[in-house]
Amino acid sequence: MKKTMLAANWKMNQSCESMTNYFAELKKLTDLEQASKCLDLIFAVPFTLLPQSKNVCSDLPLSLAAQNVHWEASGAYTGEISAAMIAECGVTHCIIGHSERRQYFNESNEQISKKIAACLSAGIKPIFCIGETLAQREAGATEETITNQINSVLAQFNHDQITEMVFAYEPVWAIGTGLAATVEQAVEVHAHIRKLIESNANASIAESAIILYGGSVKASNIASLVREKHIDGGLVGGASLNADSFSNMIAEAIKVSKINL
Ligand code: PGA
Repeated sequence: MKKTMLAANWKMNQSCESMTNYFAELKKLTDLEQASKCLDLIFAVPFTLLPQSKNVCSDLPLSLAAQNVHWEASGAYTGEISAAMIAECGVTHCIIGHSERRQYFNESNEQISKKIAACLSAGIKPIFCIGETLAQREAGATEETITNQINSVLAQFNHDQITEMVFAYEPVWAIGTGLAATVEQAVEVHAHIRKLIESNANASIAESAIILYGGSVKASNIASLVREKHIDGGLVGGASLNADSFSNMIAEAIKVSKINL
């Protein structure tokens, strides 16, 4: 049985001080040792907070992630950060291809593939984001959009590499809107993603792949999502910014954990 993964995406939020207070509060509110028996907890913090977060979290059973990376190993790329640099900060995962990056920074499937390759060669697991816009859903093009996003990337990788990836289905219309996908909508797309992983790799890799749902995940809807067979966890933006609400979410996820404590 898989652990449920809860990945907090802090986006461009928090400071050194608020991060330190957050983890102190989370530790008080939640028995993290107990939670870690059935949950994988990951915090994607801004680049500038990574070194300090590594110190603050050194004795906590949780992992750190970056929110982006550049695909080149080093060189004249002013303002960019390489996979080796984030690995040095203790990062185990990196969000790649978030819809905000696709939308505001024109990230293409080709660039996303290169970023995933850079992560894999640095031993970092990419959290590969896919999702349709509202216009695509309304045009009946959800399945086609997801298929294109997944196939164009997975075609570049072998089975061992696909095994290292985490997938995050994030309908763009559900991100930061308070309007989460229904459980039925999420399950339908997750099942489709699993089939695509199977066709690009094999049935056993697809079965064990972690597929997160993201988009207005809250303490009040996490349980209904992660109790579903095809939904292995959540990628959480707004509701992860406050230790109290994230701690409530952890408690809800534990209640429906697929691992019996
Ligand atoms: P949200 O963001 O939980 O605030 O909707 C999710 C995300 O963008 O990863």
